[in-house]
Amino acid sequence: MAKKDINWGELGFGYIQTDYRYVSNWKDGAWDDGALTTDASVVLNECAGVLQYAQTVFEGLKAYTTEDGRIVTFRPDLNAERLEQSAKRLEIPAFPQERFIDAVKQVVKANADYVPPFGSGATLYLRPYMFGSNPVIGVKPATEYQFRIFCTPVGPYFKGGAKPLTIKVSDYDRAAPCGTGNIKAGLNYAMSLHAIVTAHDEGYAENMYLDSKTRTNVEETGGANFLFITKDGKVVTPKSDTILPSITRRSLIYVAQHYLGLEAEERVVPFEEVKDMAECGLCGTAAVISPVGKIVDHGKEICLPSGMNEMGPITKKLYDTLTGIQMGRIEAPEGWIYEIG
Ligand code: PLP
Ligand code: COI
Repeated sequence: MAKKDINWGELGFGYIQTDYRYVSNWKDGAWDDGALTTDASVVLNECAGVLQYAQTVFEGLKAYTTEDGRIVTFRPDLNAERLEQSAKRLEIPAFPQERFIDAVKQVVKANADYVPPFGSGATLYLRPYMFGSNPVIGVKPATEYQFRIFCTPVGPYFKGGAKPLTIKVSDYDRAAPCGTGNIKAGLNYAMSLHAIVTAHDEGYAENMYLDSKTRTNVEETGGANFLFITKDGKVVTPKSDTILPSITRRSLIYVAQHYLGLEAEERVVPFEEVKDMAECGLCGTAAVISPVGKIVDHGKEICLPSGMNEMGPITKKLYDTLTGIQMGRIEAPEGWIYEIG
């Protein structure tokens, strides 16, 4: 088997159909054995729970080729755990954690030719998701579900390489729990689409959402958490119950403290404080750490001292260490790396 003929270095964050995906069905109160399939289409009844009441949840994680040619995934146990929490919120039955990890391995292994080579700048993005599949017309949960994982090779989430982004303070709420639209850990993504289109139309890469109750504290962006570096070199990341509990962020706090000897704290970050920060980045599976150079608050510009040309120095250290761990250049903490055997 040979790698697919893909120009890995040119990939953006898009969908490329790969050869295999995993499917398991829930019926009569149990998941079936599950299997890989080459069929990328999902055929549903017009009244399926997912179509009428958006009963669906998802996850996102990546597979990497290491420097010595192994294929690995990063902390899939945490994605399994978070998917279970998301599913609970939407009355979807849990998919067992060990089966989730096994399904991830099966999908990566079956699509090994699509895992971008080490050093290409691309990775294999995996999208596990679950949805109500049988007809429901009264407002109630479905009684049949599908769990699926597909994968697609991806490049950087934001265009322009590692150039710092300009983002805006959004007038919209992040639309946390409830409402229709697909959900990850209680966040409603469909309700964020109008805000992201508005920001893009105005020339911004992302939205900075403030807390919907007081509109004074920093929450997150549409697809990533915030990470700030203070002028005295401390890593600070917003604490909030209404943002996605990012696995990348949790990992970066550990990396800051245990690999780089930095102070790191998760705490409420008043928007007022942002103008005094030295560096700012967006962190997530897709975003990795994407630096922010400028934040525009209704015409008022906050320019981070790290500037618009490159990542700030501490952000860069965090980035190099995290990606070093993910790509096998730096030894990982126990249990972070899962080999695709
Ligand atoms: N916040 C939002 C809204 C996201 O969609 C994501 C992406 O998964 C994240 C944060 C980062 O989370 P993680 O690091 O687990 O990918
Ligand atoms: C991820 O990083 O996995 C996400 O869910 C972000 C999404 C906006 C692509």
